[in-house]
Amino acid sequence: MTDLPVPIGLLAELTHRCPLGCPYCSNPIELTRTNAELDTKTWINVLNEAASLGIMHVHLSGGEPLVRPDLAELTNAAHLAGLYTNLITSAVGLTVQRFSELRAAGLDHVQISIQGVDPARADSVAHFKGGTRAKLDAAKRIVEAGMALTINAVMHRNNMDELPAIIGLAENLGAGRLEVAHVQYHGWAIPNRAALMPTREQFLEAEQIVIEARARFEGTLVIDHVMPDYFAERPKACMGGWGRQVIVVTPDGRALPCHAAATLPGMIFDNVRKKPLADIWGHSEAFNRFRGTQWMPKPCNGCERAEIDWGGCRCQALSILGDATATDPACALSPNHARMKELASASATNTYRFRRIGG
Ligand code: SF4
Ligand code: FES
Repeated sequence: MTDLPVPIGLLAELTHRCPLGCPYCSNPIELTRTNAELDTKTWINVLNEAASLGIMHVHLSGGEPLVRPDLAELTNAAHLAGLYTNLITSAVGLTVQRFSELRAAGLDHVQISIQGVDPARADSVAHFKGGTRAKLDAAKRIVEAGMALTINAVMHRNNMDELPAIIGLAENLGAGRLEVAHVQYHGWAIPNRAALMPTREQFLEAEQIVIEARARFEGTLVIDHVMPDYFAERPKACMGGWGRQVIVVTPDGRALPCHAAATLPGMIFDNVRKKPLADIWGHSEAFNRFRGTQWMPKPCNGCERAEIDWGGCRCQALSILGDATATDPACALSPNHARMKELASASATNTYRFRRIGG
């Protein structure tokens, strides 16, 4: 292949185990069991292969990566391989001791997810009592240690009113970046869609709040706004385009172009236990299936945005239309765009199906 892109990031899903039970978790409904997880040696090999492939960032993720006792060893291996290391964590379990081990191992950056600012509300969404306190304590330690911190706030209809306070919290903590991340409807968020979907008014208000806060905190706090596709007229380039920027490795070693790709029927995903990462990236059927623009049907085929959004999200086309090859219904040019709008305005429910092993 002549124009094979060089991947930028490796999303290393070290485990699906997690003490929290967030109903919008992007992990699959069928979570991988502990005994199927890759061992330390295999992960170290993957990290070295990722660096040789030109990858610059590794996101140590999960589930909750802190449940792996070898996390410091893996962080150190990534550091020695020359990768920038980002820990994506709930911070529940990021004790003084664990943090100091990770720092010594070469950890560069921590991203802590929060559910909100009100501990009772936030802990109830996370299905974990005391979680908010642990997160704030860990965030303070990270900033005091001089390490880069991102706060990732997942936004939905039941915490949107807290957005100004969330921005204030990120500022007070001394975070360098805040991700205002509306729920993306993959994994556990699909069965919880009606309970999580904001109203259009909530979404527009959030957009305004972010615009104003960006101007206020320019130069001190970077604020990213990850939009919900349901209120959009054009889709995002999911993962920066299929097979273009990121490799996801699941806890059991499958290499995927995105975290929800395993839901696509009839696709074969190579495993890092059996094939080198470079081989998988360049030659596997899965990474080549939707890479580039050749696979695109009309109206994507010939569209001026084809190499901007790369056709949006295949997993979204599957989950909403039952067809992974269809135009992403987030796009107003899709014949099925109305379906997306219907789902966005469907009546709300107020019960969650919390994430847990065994569905
Ligand atoms: Fe993107 Fe396809 Fe819509 Fe064009 S038609 S904007 S390529 S999803
Ligand atoms: Fe799979 Fe978007 S999550 S392509």
